[in-house]
Amino acid sequence: MTDKTILRALRGEKLPTPPIWMMRQAGRYLPEYRATRARAGDFLSLCYNPDLAAEVTLQPIRRFGFDAAILFADILLLPQALGADLWFVTGEGPRLSTISDMAGVKALRPTAEIHETLSPIYETVKMLARELPQETTLIGFAGAPWTVATYMIAGRGTPDQAPAHRLKDNDRAAFVALMERITESTIEYLDAQVRAGAEVIKLFDSWAGSLQGQDFVDFALLPTKRIIAELKSRHPTVPIIAFPREAGQGYVGFARATGADCVALDNSVTPEWGAAHVQVDGCVQGNLASRHMVTGGQALVDETRRIVAAFSGGPHIFNLGHGITPDADPDNVARMIEVVRGG
Ligand code: CP3
Repeated sequence: MTDKTILRALRGEKLPTPPIWMMRQAGRYLPEYRATRARAGDFLSLCYNPDLAAEVTLQPIRRFGFDAAILFADILLLPQALGADLWFVTGEGPRLSTISDMAGVKALRPTAEIHETLSPIYETVKMLARELPQETTLIGFAGAPWTVATYMIAGRGTPDQAPAHRLKDNDRAAFVALMERITESTIEYLDAQVRAGAEVIKLFDSWAGSLQGQDFVDFALLPTKRIIAELKSRHPTVPIIAFPREAGQGYVGFARATGADCVALDNSVTPEWGAAHVQVDGCVQGNLASRHMVTGGQALVDETRRIVAAFSGGPHIFNLGHGITPDADPDNVARMIEVVRGG
């Protein structure tokens, strides 16, 4: 029996103080991250260097004492392991070779070969499992299939995911085959992370909000359910956090329908709504707007207290509604933690 606070919350326990971590907690708002990234050369070299990736994962734990560390990696390493070209353009974001038809899907590498590319990531997880303070939970992660597919199809981030919607609607067979390849390889990737020492898994479906109606069921809910079922059959005690970002009404019943132990909420919903409609099914995570990490002040304190109060009736992990941005002030992060812990 472990008493790590995040694991207790994920088992459905209501705690007097919610445990806390933060999406993108290792990142450019921290001077020590920028220094290590400069040493690595570039972002991808940092991801694939276990010593340095473990170092940046630990930096926000040392500085702030978060209750969880999230593996430092990226959701786009899996497409790269499947054979996509991947590079990052400074100030713009990721670029990938694109997939536009069945031939492109068939040219991807077999799932069994992804570990050749991804083995440094498992090495990072192993190092972290050894080095983290014993009270800190280690979170592994992957992108959910729809979100990963949007990048593989468009070759970049897109505001409305239009290229992925086009393939879905115009060449359903190719789209479904791609989703299938991503789903099966995501299962193997996450299984390997758990075997290396990840204690919790998070699935990032950052673009779930652009899937409407039956598409949300078919391409956000069902792939998530399948990944969770397969991981749970192999690792029955590993909790899974699902993040169907901007799902709105789709958040309702998502944990029950997918088997997720926790649903992460973005800040397009109020914490009161989240408590009434999502937390009734179990643990929730969220959902402070990340702009408060830039603007600070009394609004940060008030909104943090409001979120803690709204979710105080059930299991809750405090987090932001999305990743912290590079222009954030580390002092605001420290203040948020202090307020969550009763200051
Ligand atoms: O949260 C963490 O601290 C763990 C590491 C992590 C990163 N990316 C590091 C990163 C995690 C969990 C991710 C997930 C991720 N990556 C998502 C899902 C979550 C979300 O934000 O919606 C997505 C969509 C990506 C793809 C991605 N990676 C984009 C679109 C970008 C560019 C945007 C940006 O912030 O620059 C990245 C780059 C990236 N991933 C950075 C970090 C720290 C910044 C890279 C740098 O140092 O220059």
